[in-house]
Amino acid sequence: MRIDVVTIFPEYLAALDLSLVGKARQRGLLDLRVHDLRDWTTDRHRTVDDTPFGGGAGMVMRPDVWGRALDEVLGAGATLILPTPSGEVFTQRHADELATAEHLVFACGRYEGIDARVAEHYRATGLDVRELSIGDYVLNGGEVAALVMIEAVGRLVPGMVGNPESLVEESHGAAGLLEYPVYTKPPRWQEIDVPDLLLSGHHARIDRWRRDEALRRTAGRRPEMIAALDGTALDKHDVALLAELGWTVSDDGRVVAAPRDPDAGTG
Ligand code: 6GU
Repeated sequence: MRIDVVTIFPEYLAALDLSLVGKARQRGLLDLRVHDLRDWTTDRHRTVDDTPFGGGAGMVMRPDVWGRALDEVLGAGATLILPTPSGEVFTQRHADELATAEHLVFACGRYEGIDARVAEHYRATGLDVRELSIGDYVLNGGEVAALVMIEAVGRLVPGMVGNPESLVEESHGAAGLLEYPVYTKPPRWQEIDVPDLLLSGHHARIDRWRRDEALRRTAGRRPEMIAALDGTALDKHDVALLAELGWTVSDDGRVVAAPRDPDAGTG
């Protein structure tokens, strides 16, 4: 896979020399290049931004500078990614899809963002252009978001993760649920014991316990993920546990929050 990143802070991307992404680069699985946007400026001050038409605070990145940079870096069939807090929220689905791409180009904006004609122009040329956010909070620029997306995509590229089994487990494990809690040695630490069952060797019971814990965690922390489950894919035990947690499975397989009993715990 080829990945290019264009930014006014190339040093920000130094982290990509480390860890799995760094090893994949060394092994030739990933051809990753970072470019300084200012290399495509034409004035003495290497200006990349200007004041917004229509007024308002802050500065906007100029389309002409970005256009020269992207015309040089983009090839036919590249996917152009514009990290922006106004984008669609990046999820594992995006990562899975982008991992199949031949060439990704990240255009990292700063200030109030990149002139909107850049996205419009490259879309009009027929390129796949994605405006993506990494979540509902504001960063100072797209660099950290690009790092996040490159790590999420990079670890899916064949040969990049040390243990491909962990990828298989992730996708086949409890689909649509948070991970269950994990433990290692020592069995007792700070007066807290690892749950006995995990030391028992009863693999079927361990699997069931882990699924219960995943369901409990997800119900507590991410109820919208429980509501998105396919009720027809749940077993009897799942349905009973979810009932304890206040969820019911309707006849057509939707999982819905049961109305709370206003008298619960009184009397
Ligand atoms: Cl992609 N960019 C910026 N500047 N802020 C963000 C973001 C991106 N995603 C979440 N917040």
